[in-house]
Formats: sequence, structure tokens, C-alpha cells
Amino acid sequence: MDPNVLLKKDMKEKQELVNIILDRYLPRKDEYPKELHKALRYSIFAGGKRLRPYLTILAYQLYKDKAEVITPIAAAIEMVHTYTLIHDDLPDLDDDDYRRGKKSCHTVFGEGIALLAGDSLLINSFELISYAELSDSLKVQFVRELAHESGIKGLISGQMLDIESEGKKIDKKTLNYIHSNKTARLINISLRFGALAAKAPAKELKVIEDYGTKLGMVYQIVDDLLDIEGSQANMGKSIGKDEIQGKATFPSVYGIETSREMAIDLTEQAKQRIATLGDRSIKLRILADYMLNRKS
Ligand code: IPE
Ligand code: IPE
Ligand code: MG
Ligand code: MG
Ligand code: MG
Repeated sequence: MDPNVLLKKDMKEKQELVNIILDRYLPRKDEYPKELHKALRYSIFAGGKRLRPYLTILAYQLYKDKAEVITPIAAAIEMVHTYTLIHDDLPDLDDDDYRRGKKSCHTVFGEGIALLAGDSLLINSFELISYAELSDSLKVQFVRELAHESGIKGLISGQMLDIESEGKKIDKKTLNYIHSNKTARLINISLRFGALAAKAPAKELKVIEDYGTKLGMVYQIVDDLLDIEGSQANMGKSIGKDEIQGKATFPSVYGIETSREMAIDLTEQAKQRIATLGDRSIKLRILADYMLNRKS
């Protein structure tokens, strides 16, 4: 069978496992206060690709077969990711009306509720981690690292520079800072958590992280390219807005051609690095190409 078809099938299976955990953990939408739960369920079940949880599960499965233990951690990461999207779309950030093929959270529920829905997803992700059937010391490590990577020294700082750079001419160093912080770090930590939970040897953990950092950069470069070359129908979000808002993107600094070449080159490096783990890393290699060539 075509490896891409196999990957898609596997991705779908893992998405379902993650969705079951999220559905079980999050309050019902008719639970009091209803509007909050409706809003956060609206965004989290709007149909995201669940890429980050998939990475967590694949990294875990480099070492172990069953994914049950790691799925709550993967779901918690998806909660953090979805919070970033809800807040990213707010009028004071990117002001986006569409997300995951639907109206964005604040467009439907109002800004106040969207803020709170995002807050809940972020904060409660840590609670979900605490319930996982893993050692307390590992869970403390996950809480610390997730807070660090998504917090003031990570994702938030990337988002900060992203909005601060709007309409400005920025240098390559700043662009790199933005992309690695706002996107690559969460992608990298998704892999890292899977590998740590499976007790990956230190040397291999390093390989997985090198792959993750490169993959994370590719992911945002491709997102930037798709904002120019993609379609709203496929992407499920408005396109063409980065240029209008004067966003710091790879195409705006390097041009479309060079950005694509950089993404191709980084993907190749990521694949070569992960190939050192042998046959068991095949899915991660196919996934790297899938992420490079995605249209959605
Ligand atoms: C969108 O993330 C934001 C970026 C970091 C580029 P995804 O492209 O993973 O969005 P969903 O989760 O599938 O909606
Ligand atoms: C996404 O960057 C980064 C985070 C949400 C943290 P973008 O602003 O480019 O993402 P999209 O294009 O709105 O999904
Ligand atoms: Mg943004
Ligand atoms: Mg945005
Ligand atoms: Mg974008």
C-alpha cells in the first residue's frame, strides 16, 4: 500500500484515541457554565490535524507498542495547541475569523468567552498530565517542561515578537527566533515527551530532538507558504492575511522560492537524522515528507 495512505490511516486511528481522551476529560457542553464548555469543545473538536499528539505517540512507539499510557499526555499537548490557536485568532493578535474550517471561537462566542476557553484549555492541560499513569517524577518533569516551552521563555515570546514585528522589516535572526519559539518548540516537545515516557536512551533522545527542531521549523515555513499558495477550503482558515498584516514570515524575508528550498533541505536533514534509528523510524520519515507537502 502507498506509504502516505498507510500514514493517513494510522494518523486517523491515533486522532480517534486522542479525541476519546479529550471527550472524556472535558466537561459536557450542557454542563454549567454551558457557554464556556460549548466554546472550548467547539474549538477542540473543530477538526484539527492532531499532528502534535501524533508525534508524541509515534516517538513513544519507537520503543513501545501500546499507546494508552502516553495518550493523555498527547491530548494535553493538543489542549495547549488549541488554546494557542484560539488566542492567536483574537482581534488583538491575528484577528482571524476562520479556524479549522469553521468560524473562529471569538467570532461565535465573543472575545471574553474565547479568552476564557483558551485559558481553560491551557491550565487544565496540566491537570490532565497529572492524571496520567506515569511516575510522579516524570509528570513533574512534563509539567515543568511544558510550562517552560509554552511560556515566557518559549511560545509566548515567539508570539510576542510575531505581533511586535508586524509591519516592520525584520532580520533573519528575529525571524528564526519567532518561528522556533512560536511553533517549533511545541512540536519538538511533543516528540520529546513520547520518547521520555518510553525511556529512550539519551543518545536517541538527542536524535529525536534534532529531528523535532527541524521538523518544527519546516512546519511554520510551510504554514507561511500556504498562506500565500494554499486555499481557504483546504486550510480551513483565511489565507493571504500575512502579507496584508505585514507578518514576519519566511517568504517575506527570503522569498517564496528560497523558503521552499529551505523547507525541503531541512526536511531532508530531519529524515537523515531520524533514519539513524533504523527501520522503526519509518513513520517519522514519511511524516516529515507529508508535513512538507501538506496542503492543509
Ligand atoms: C496551526 O497549526 C498553527 C501553526 C503553528 C502553524 P496546525 O496546522 O497544526 O493546525 P491544526 O491543529 O491542524 O488546526
Ligand atoms: C501560529 O502562527 C503560531 C501559534 C498559534 C502559536 P500563525 O499565526 O501563522 O498560525 P495560523 O496561520 O494563524 O494558524
Ligand atoms: Mg499568529
Ligand atoms: Mg494566526
Ligand atoms: Mg500562519
